Amino acid sequence: MSIMSLQNVKVCFESQVILKSINLEIKRGEAFVIIGPSGQGKTTLLKTLSGLVTPQNGKVFIEQKEWLTLSFKEQLPVLRKMGILFQKNALFDSFTCIENIAFPLQELGTLTEREIEKKAEYFLDAVGMAHARDLFPDEISGGMQKRLGIARALALDPEIIFYDDPTAGLDPITAKKIIDLIIFLKNQQDSTIVAVTNDMNRAYQLADRIGMVIDGGLLMTGTPEETRNHPDLRVQQFIHGNLTGPLNAMT
Ligand SMILES: Nc1ncnc2c1ncn2[C@@H]1O[C@H](COP(=O)(O)OP(=O)(O)OP(=O)(O)O)[C@@H](O)[C@H]1O
Ligand SMILES: [Mg+2]
Repeated sequence: MSIMSLQNVKVCFESQVILKSINLEIKRGEAFVIIGPSGQGKTTLLKTLSGLVTPQNGKVFIEQKEWLTLSFKEQLPVLRKMGILFQKNALFDSFTCIENIAFPLQELGTLTEREIEKKAEYFLDAVGMAHARDLFPDEISGGMQKRLGIARALALDPEIIFYDDPTAGLDPITAKKIIDLIIFLKNQQDSTIVAVTNDMNRAYQLADRIGMVIDGGLLMTGTPEETRNHPDLRVQQFIHGNLTGPLNAMT
């Protein structure tokens, strides 16, 4: 059963068409990974699926509800089931690491202060940041900020998690560990994942299905195995980092 879907969705910013006639169904419990060259609309697609970007045309369904027809009050219970890691992390600069994780939990209003602290500590530790507990975001490295953003999204036990570039700026070993953790928690909580990454090793590690945003469209490339063997030249050029042919204009 689909948990989110886009039907004939078109997204424009000012007069620029970013995505045109996108059709996509995300199944409950799957890990869907979006790949594609920079600036083509991966973040825009992720934000459209999570209801944060309003398309000019088409329909967005989240949990079978037609998203754009709902009031904010009707959207709220669904939004509470979502966790988002933004590409730029969107951390609270004036909060310490532990406070960054604790704050959304306090906002939920369902846990005691002690429970919140324990949970925040658990997730800080899970991303290897226990030592940075009382530091502020500008006192930690870029990779640590990314891990903090992930811990903050995960601590909400979301049913649907959106990760925009979760391993950007991480070294290969930390990147693999972070994806291991994301998969471990996904299996434990039976959640649904939509992730953007251009790190093909991590895409293969995480994905049930992969789709590539290119030329305003979404090219479904299939399972990791199918993606590796995909006949479309643009896919092969992209996954092998080979910028000859049509992608040459990007260099
Ligand atoms: N809020 C916005 N207002 C205007 N233009 C936007 C906005 N968000 C995105 N764009 C434009 O839409 C296009 C796609 O942007 P998007 O961020 O989705 O790309 P991306 O594939 O995620 O790129 P990257 O790999 O660099 O993160 C870009 O040309 C960008 O400038
Ligand atoms: Mg992006």
